[in-house]
Amino acid sequence: MDIFQKQIIRTETGSVKWDRTKEVFGTSDVLPMWVADMDFEAPQEVKKALVERVEHGVFGYTFPNAAAKEAIMKWTETRHQWKISSEEAMLFSSGVVTALSVVIQALTEKGDKVLLQSPVYTPFFTMIEENERVVENSPLLLEDSRYYINFEDLESKLSQPEVKMMLICSPHNPSGRAWTEEELRQIGDLCIKHGVTAVSDEIHSDLMLFGKRHYPFASLGKEYAQQCITCIAPSKTFNLAGLQASAIITENKDFRDKIAAVQHKNGQFGLNAMAITAMKAAYETGSAWLDQLLVLLENHTAALTAFIEDRIPEIKVMKPDASYLIWLDCRGTGLSDQELKHQLLYKGKLALEPGPKYGSGGEGFVRINIGTPLATLQEGLLRLEKAFR
Ligand SMILES: Cc1ncc(COP(=O)(O)O)c(C=O)c1O
Repeated sequence: MDIFQKQIIRTETGSVKWDRTKEVFGTSDVLPMWVADMDFEAPQEVKKALVERVEHGVFGYTFPNAAAKEAIMKWTETRHQWKISSEEAMLFSSGVVTALSVVIQALTEKGDKVLLQSPVYTPFFTMIEENERVVENSPLLLEDSRYYINFEDLESKLSQPEVKMMLICSPHNPSGRAWTEEELRQIGDLCIKHGVTAVSDEIHSDLMLFGKRHYPFASLGKEYAQQCITCIAPSKTFNLAGLQASAIITENKDFRDKIAAVQHKNGQFGLNAMAITAMKAAYETGSAWLDQLLVLLENHTAALTAFIEDRIPEIKVMKPDASYLIWLDCRGTGLSDQELKHQLLYKGKLALEPGPKYGSGGEGFVRINIGTPLATLQEGLLRLEKAFR
C-alpha cells in the first residue's frame, strides 16, 4: 500500500490537530485540516532509528553531536546548495518558534521594532509582542492571486532607526510563495544598507513544488550570511513536529554568542534524545521519502484546484510554490470572516485556519492543510463545498 494513503487514527494521541478542536473551534465534530502537520507516518528509517534508540534504554543527558551536525550540513548542501562553513555555525532549539523568541531576545532590545510582512505565520507577531518589542509591518502586495513585496514600503520601514530586525518567512506561510533569488537579494541589500538583522525562517524550504527552487538566504553571499540567522527544522519536511528539533544557523559569531548567551540564561541546553535521533536519521536517509511526498503534494494541489474551480468557483486557490498549506481566497463568497468560520464549522464540519489569524491582508481567506491521504482530502473538499451550499 502507498505509505501516504494509510489512514491512521490520530485522536487521543495528544495531537493538537485532532484532539484540540473542541478547545480551539468550540466543536469536535469537524474534520481537522488546520494545524501544520501531516497525517503521515514518519519515514521508516526514522522510525527504525527511534526504536533502536528506545531499545538502547539509557536516556541520560544528550546533545546534538558531530554526526547530527554533519547530517544537517550534508542535507543543506545536497538539497539546497548551501554550504554551512562549519559545525560551529549551528545552535539548536526545541522548535523554530522558540528559536525566533530567543533570537529576538538576543539581538534586539525592549521597545525596538521588528519588521514582518503580513499576512504571515501568527507567532511572528506574538513572539515580537510578547517579548515587548514592536511589530512594524510591511504588508505583502496581492496581485493576480500571488504575493509580492512592496520594496518601496519595505525600504522606508527598514530605514527607521528603531527597526532592528526583519523576520522573513521563506517560503511563505500561509501562501506557499517561494521568494526568488532576486527578491531575497533585494531584501538582503536593504537589511545590509540599514543595519537590520535578517532572520530567515526556512522551515518549509524542503517542500518545494512544481520545479521551484529554494534559495537559502545565507547562501546568497558572504555579506548576506553575516547579516542573517537561519532557522531550519526537519519537523515540516518529515512530519516530526512533536519531537521538537530545530537548528539556528548563523555565520556571524557575534550573533551566535549573543543567542547562545540567552539560551544559557533561559536554561536551554541541547535537544532531547529522540529529537536528535530523528533529526539525524531524517536528514541522512529521508531523501527518497521526501521526493515521493512532493509528488503527492503536487497531485493533491492539482486535485484541490480542479475541484474548487469546478464546484466552488467563488473561491480562488493561490497556487503554492512550496509546502502543504493552501491559501484560499474566499472573498468572492461575499461572507464576513465570522460567517465563513461559522459556515465551515457548522455547515461543512471542517476546521480550517481563519485568514485574520495571519494579520492584515488575511481577511476573507482561509488556510487548508492538504498533507493527508487522498480520501481525507476528498472528504475535506466535499465538506468545503457543503459549507458554501
Ligand atoms: C513559518 C513557520 N515557522 C515555524 C513553525 C513552527 O515551528 P516549530 O514547530 O519548530 O516551533 C511553523 C509551523 O507551522 C511555520 O509555518
